[in-house]
Amino acid sequence: MHRWLSIFGLSMSIVSSQIAASAADSSISQQAWGKTQSGISVDLYSLKNANGVEARISNYGGTLTHWFAPDRNGKLGDVVLGFDTLAEYEAGSPYFGCLVGRFGNRIAKGKFVLDGTTYQLPLNDGPNTLHGGTQGFDKVVWTAKPVPGAEPALELTYVSKDGEMGYPGNLTVKAVYTLTKDNALRLDYTATTDKPTILNLTQHAYFNLAGKGTINDHVLYLNADRMTPVDATLIPTGELTPVKGTPFDFTTPTKIGARVEAKDAQLGYGKGYDHNFVVNQAKPGELTLQARVTEATTGRMLEVLSTEPAVQFYGGNFLTGKLKGKGGELIPHRSGFCLEPQHYPDSPNQASFPSTVLRPGQVYKNTIIFRLGVTK
Ligand code: GLA
Repeated sequence: MHRWLSIFGLSMSIVSSQIAASAADSSISQQAWGKTQSGISVDLYSLKNANGVEARISNYGGTLTHWFAPDRNGKLGDVVLGFDTLAEYEAGSPYFGCLVGRFGNRIAKGKFVLDGTTYQLPLNDGPNTLHGGTQGFDKVVWTAKPVPGAEPALELTYVSKDGEMGYPGNLTVKAVYTLTKDNALRLDYTATTDKPTILNLTQHAYFNLAGKGTINDHVLYLNADRMTPVDATLIPTGELTPVKGTPFDFTTPTKIGARVEAKDAQLGYGKGYDHNFVVNQAKPGELTLQARVTEATTGRMLEVLSTEPAVQFYGGNFLTGKLKGKGGELIPHRSGFCLEPQHYPDSPNQASFPSTVLRPGQVYKNTIIFRLGVTK
């Protein structure tokens, strides 16, 4: 049982982790979630819509900790992996549910040149920098402002200082999560900088639409005819290769586990799926359906839409089965998948990839929509 302070809607209410399907109105409520190791107070917000769907988000890393959504019989279940406590997130999370920045995915050797200056970032993934560095946007406390309205929203702001994690420019990032009437969680990012910089923001929710077990039987459709193959350290080679005829062809809905053990050099490098797919997008920046995942036993369906040109599909290969998640339960290998809308990995070092440079006066925009539904 948790005590929630209601911000809009009812005054004070006690909510258990089982939310009744008949919840009346949309609301957003807040509870204290403890302090970080460095003593900063962190909150957990609960966004609910009139369908009884509830998303819990913390201002620690902008982390989506829970998302209760109906199955085909209207039964609510949590569809994201995570932990119960802030301390567990701080102790070592494999990026469960968080916002990712300043630069999602990898930068080769943590090095890039911008306007003639070479920048060196901390290395945290073998020879490379992953997801922003040792203290990315997933590990910082954001300023939170609940936004009232028919669709409850949470506005998170973070100012990343010039030089923080090695990146140039004071970068102001706003991330607004909205729980919509149609059971989608919409994330709208905007960002500005006072010096030229690079950025690649994304969201790292791990989904399991059945709420348990592996994701091998989830059926994936990817709206992507091409991918960016990688080397052994998961840095793109620079090519854009067709997926047709390979285990990476999800243009026809296919079980995630159907070909994951196939003999394939790319699958070997990723220890399964951990690759960037180039989305078939009519024009840059157009909101496009990137992926759809269905799960037969519950009937749950997830659609991923974004304005970003690509999506990293990661199949939870690094979940070793030893980590304990919610309720102290061990998290099995490949029991969650991530669909991370983003620009291509290592873009700052790949002249042929769409640019990830942001300059003063420009406004960065990126919309990511995770929409939950059911199939018959
Ligand atoms: C991304 C990366 C993966 C892995 C996960 C987190 O998806 O591409 O290689 O780092 O994040 O474990």
